[in-house]
Amino acid sequence: MADRPISDVLTKPDAALEMTLRPSLFSDFTGQPRVKERLEITVAAARQRKEAIDHILLSGPPGLGKTTLANIIAKAMGAGFKCTSGPTIEKAGDLAGLLTNLEEGDVLFIDEIHRLQKTIEEYLYPAMEDFKLDIIIDQGPNARSVRLNLPKFTLIGATTRSGLLSAPLLTRFGVRERLDYYPATELEKIVSRSARLLNLEVEPGGAGEVARRSRGTPRIANNLLRRVRDYAQVRGDGRVTKAIADAALAMLEIDENGLDEMDKRILEAIIVKFGGGPVGISSLAVTVGEEPDTLEEVYEPYLIMEGYLKRTPQGRVTTELAYKKLGLAIRPPAVTGGTGSLF
Ligand SMILES: Nc1ncnc2c1ncn2[C@@H]1O[C@H](COP(=O)(O)OP(=O)(O)OP(=O)(O)O)[C@@H](O)[C@H]1O
Ligand SMILES: [Mg+2]
Repeated sequence: MADRPISDVLTKPDAALEMTLRPSLFSDFTGQPRVKERLEITVAAARQRKEAIDHILLSGPPGLGKTTLANIIAKAMGAGFKCTSGPTIEKAGDLAGLLTNLEEGDVLFIDEIHRLQKTIEEYLYPAMEDFKLDIIIDQGPNARSVRLNLPKFTLIGATTRSGLLSAPLLTRFGVRERLDYYPATELEKIVSRSARLLNLEVEPGGAGEVARRSRGTPRIANNLLRRVRDYAQVRGDGRVTKAIADAALAMLEIDENGLDEMDKRILEAIIVKFGGGPVGISSLAVTVGEEPDTLEEVYEPYLIMEGYLKRTPQGRVTTELAYKKLGLAIRPPAVTGGTGSLF
């Protein structure tokens, strides 16, 4: 994974690494304290009542722990865990197969649930609500609808784009939680835990440096830690000090705010090619050579949170901060409310 861009790290995660580092208990899951507390209470209450838990929707940018939490919940419930994803369910029969194979209390995890087809979604409504599945068997004059009773299962849906979910689907989730980017202090704890699991000696300064430059994302933190480990081994004595982490991250072209080459390309394109915006997502995507979806799911949320970019009804607009970051002394567009002062 020589110089994989952030989008690659997030869309094609390293399965082996994630298995090793993925926490399996609530107590190992760092951060997101409010989400964690609410989920723990939901699980504890359902266990006391000996019921399946309500259907849960987990949303948020990639790599923040949605799949991890779904696993933790199933384990805490002592329930079976079946895993699938929106795009892989192509026919109603696929869904019927999944649902009828569940056992009482099982968790069915549907990743990328926003990519479920409309027709499939409609089969899911009665399944979620009444634990019934109406399927049509045979065709033509022999076609008839058969109602199957399903075990009481829990659906956990994960999505990076909850805005794309239809209202009927959204409202069928009793619990809806949104994960947010992690503050550096929490990422630092995650980095230290991962280092322990990888038998890697990391000084606090080194862990802090990796944490600060990981875009608030545990998956990126773990991946960067591994790259830093390689660097420490080859160029240092194997220990991850602040200086080693700094040098390794500089080599990976990840700057002190965690922005990578693509982030800068996006900001530069808006400023230089589109006069600071507003620009539509598809024009921007063509200009920087990236998929519009990837821009919206992976890059934009972080750039917006950090204040480099704004979303307006007319399109994307860069802020003063973006000009500063790129060292461009161009007057930002009027949306920043500037009075024409130069900086
Ligand atoms: N709170 C956490 N504490 C410790 N490690 C975490 C935490 N959240 C995530 N991780 C680590 O980050 C990795 C990515 O998390 P996960 O796969 O759950 O993200 P995701 O939200 O499902 O991402 P995607 O949207 O790409 O599916 C996990 O393998 C785990 O090692
Ligand atoms: Mg996931």
